[in-house]
Amino acid sequence: MINKSLVKRRFKKSLATYEENAHIQKKMAEKLIKMLPSKNYDSILEIGSSTGILTKNIKKYLKFKHYTAIDIVGESRKYIEKIIPNADFLEGDIEEIELNETYDLIISNACLQWCINPSAVVKKLQKKLNKSAIMAITLFGEENLKELKSYFNIKMQAPIEFESIIYQETETIKLYFNSPKDILKHIKYTGANALTEYKLTRTKLSEFEQYYKEYYSEGSKVYITYNPRYLILN
Ligand SMILES: C[S@@+](CC[C@H](N)C(=O)[O-])C[C@H]1O[C@@H](n2cnc3c(N)ncnc32)[C@H](O)[C@@H]1O
Repeated sequence: MINKSLVKRRFKKSLATYEENAHIQKKMAEKLIKMLPSKNYDSILEIGSSTGILTKNIKKYLKFKHYTAIDIVGESRKYIEKIIPNADFLEGDIEEIELNETYDLIISNACLQWCINPSAVVKKLQKKLNKSAIMAITLFGEENLKELKSYFNIKMQAPIEFESIIYQETETIKLYFNSPKDILKHIKYTGANALTEYKLTRTKLSEFEQYYKEYYSEGSKVYITYNPRYLILN
């Protein structure tokens, strides 16, 4: 079960290190933006804006009049206002927040898997689309970080179903590191350690390292699996 206060704490803490370590999220944002029709958007809503990796792509590739961002971490505001100075920013949980406007494009990168019920969120957002507007999202699938989920006994997420899909694509990407410790650091620096609260003693850490090297290495490297999912919906 997703723990919202942990999500908030972990993402707030990782703001300073996120961009440098969010290699996959950066690729996802670039790919998502290229899936969109180039037209003039009156209003855009972004969910889970964080430090603005996707926001920078929105600014670079899309033409729009009004842009609104939402993040459960209020500190995201200062990053977003640096990229789009006249942005509207709402601090809040997308599962709870009431939206009073409608939009030409609702977009989100690597956020909705942090919701307790992503399908319900998408349904709620689909009701906020203007006529002929679309939603473009990426989120992580069931296989994401499967090596860590298996070791730390974190329940694998069930496949998430959505309605009114225009296009979808999934990828499986292995990211390689020099050591299991580097993988743990990578996870911490991107905030993905919001999945569970674990504390490794020195003994537990060395057990983890041994296990990880035995099962998840290729040559001198160890790897972690990312499972991005791309969706265009209306
Ligand atoms: C992995 S980051 C992705 C950031 C950004 N979209 C990007 O392209 O890199 C996920 C972001 O979603 C936010 N988030 C997680 N759950 C949320 C929720 N329920 N409502 C709003 N924002 C949420 C987190 O605070 C974090 O900033």
